Amino acid sequence: MVFSLFKKKNKPTDNNSSNLKVLEVIQETPEAISLILENQNNWSYLPGQFLTIAVQPNGEEERRSYSLSSCESTDSNLKISVKRIDNGLVSNYLCDHSKAGQTLSCMQPSGTFTYKPDNKTKNLIFFAAGSGITPIMSMIKSALHDESNSKVLLIYSNKTSESIIFRKELDEYADKFKERFTVVHTLTQVSEDSHWQGETGRIDGLKIKKYLEQLSSQFSSTYYMCGPASMMETISQTLAEMGVSDDQIKQEKFFATQTESIEGDAGSAKTHRIELIYGDEMYEVPVEPGQTILEASLEEGVNIPFSCQSGLCTACRAKCNSGKISMKNSEALSEEEIKDGYILTCVAYTESDGIKVEID
Ligand code: FES
Repeated sequence: MVFSLFKKKNKPTDNNSSNLKVLEVIQETPEAISLILENQNNWSYLPGQFLTIAVQPNGEEERRSYSLSSCESTDSNLKISVKRIDNGLVSNYLCDHSKAGQTLSCMQPSGTFTYKPDNKTKNLIFFAAGSGITPIMSMIKSALHDESNSKVLLIYSNKTSESIIFRKELDEYADKFKERFTVVHTLTQVSEDSHWQGETGRIDGLKIKKYLEQLSSQFSSTYYMCGPASMMETISQTLAEMGVSDDQIKQEKFFATQTESIEGDAGSAKTHRIELIYGDEMYEVPVEPGQTILEASLEEGVNIPFSCQSGLCTACRAKCNSGKISMKNSEALSEEEIKDGYILTCVAYTESDGIKVEID
């Protein structure tokens, strides 16, 4: 790799973003749409990864990450789904204004909640609620198309039958891969006159045990979950009671369960000049006391990737090759990533001189 000399106040660099064309807008449910985006750069991605989108709903740039429900082996274009939420500035803007033919500023796929097919015979168990189905959908497609022996179980919770995202697609997969794929829907709001015959209520210990007992214990099992914090806690507790080890469980968290507070002020009380490598360039960035590495880089005109700015999505993941940093809320990174020196620049503060940070 060839680096230029140190740069200061450089032109913003954003090698990882592109304006993607919206090919189609699909109304999935009354509250959710899917956007089919042209993959004009042939971006490669793993099932479970997300795209970060930048829009200007109020004249100011806002970034949000949306999981891809498409899968490289089944879809030539990229597909994300967006669900309306109360006061959801970007989600509601996208639901109201998305049209085929427009372009959206997107950063290339990233994220560490991923599934890699390996064609071993195994059980894959997926839990999702509401729009948590999007990364799970991509993983299920990959498991069914790229493998031939894995048994796939999905337990999917929604309020009503009308709010089930990808219902038709899931039913078609359940029909096509009868021997390998089981989908269990459970609804939390069922009216008396509805003809719903499936499960009702949230995903709880009883349901989990009932369906897991039907899987062969001869094969190894891996569990993937994406949904609200309460659902993830219930599932984790039940799986722990059933003797499932932590390394068999993968989860996507888009909420903070706790904030790891750093003793005293964040970072040291001194300005540290860090070396930042991004896009084949090396920059020297002064990081002031109380500033995150992301804030300092953007202020210096080095436009490194980011999205949530809360340590949740990993869009700002970087590697710290030397020096000491501290992080608020590092739970989106695995223990292994932290051991390998990975940091989240949006919640990372400098603690020493000699810090060298590299963005993948
Ligand atoms: S921007 Fe989302 S984790 Fe840093």
